[in-house]
Amino acid sequence: MDTTTDKSMMYRLMKERGANQLDALTLGLVNAMKYSNSNVVYPDGEAKAGDGVDWMWFLPVYKGTCDFSELNAIIQYVSQESLYDELGEMLMGIAMVEMKHLDNLGDLICDLGGRIDTQKYTTTFVNYGKSPSTALQANIQSEKDTISAYNEIVDKITPLKQNKTTKYCLQMLAKLIADEEVHVNLLTERLKSLN
Ligand SMILES: [Fe+2]
Ligand SMILES: [Fe+2]
Repeated sequence: MDTTTDKSMMYRLMKERGANQLDALTLGLVNAMKYSNSNVVYPDGEAKAGDGVDWMWFLPVYKGTCDFSELNAIIQYVSQESLYDELGEMLMGIAMVEMKHLDNLGDLICDLGGRIDTQKYTTTFVNYGKSPSTALQANIQSEKDTISAYNEIVDKITPLKQNKTTKYCLQMLAKLIADEEVHVNLLTERLKSLN
């Protein structure tokens, strides 16, 4: 092996290791925090195009201009973290989990043969709230709407002929729903403690 090949292979390995380590680090971090359901895990294996699951089903929950997309949730939580000091730590913790959701959904859409770089997004549906309690109420509603959106996808996949891709997607959806349910519970408890 000449020096050039040697170097390019080394850089490729470094890049792969770096990317995987950071992915593992952020996943470990959110699992260690109380803002996700660490009893339900992301799927192993892989999803691929042509197995009956339509990547378009995931696009609205990925970065749709709506109150239930993961991108909308991240902007809403991070903005509220700046607006309401008393809620800051919880909102940042939840936002990090939503970032992992966005990350994993983006990977899934790509694996299913979809495009993540064509959809436009605006902040029309970001609900900042007017106070800590109205912010929490808005978040609880958005989390519930997100769970409904995920359940609608489950209902589309369940009747399909089952294969590795359907299994992978259903486990992904189970994980996302489990985390959103943790968020509903945490936000509801916090709202009660404010009232
Ligand atoms: Fe989420
Ligand atoms: Fe959530």
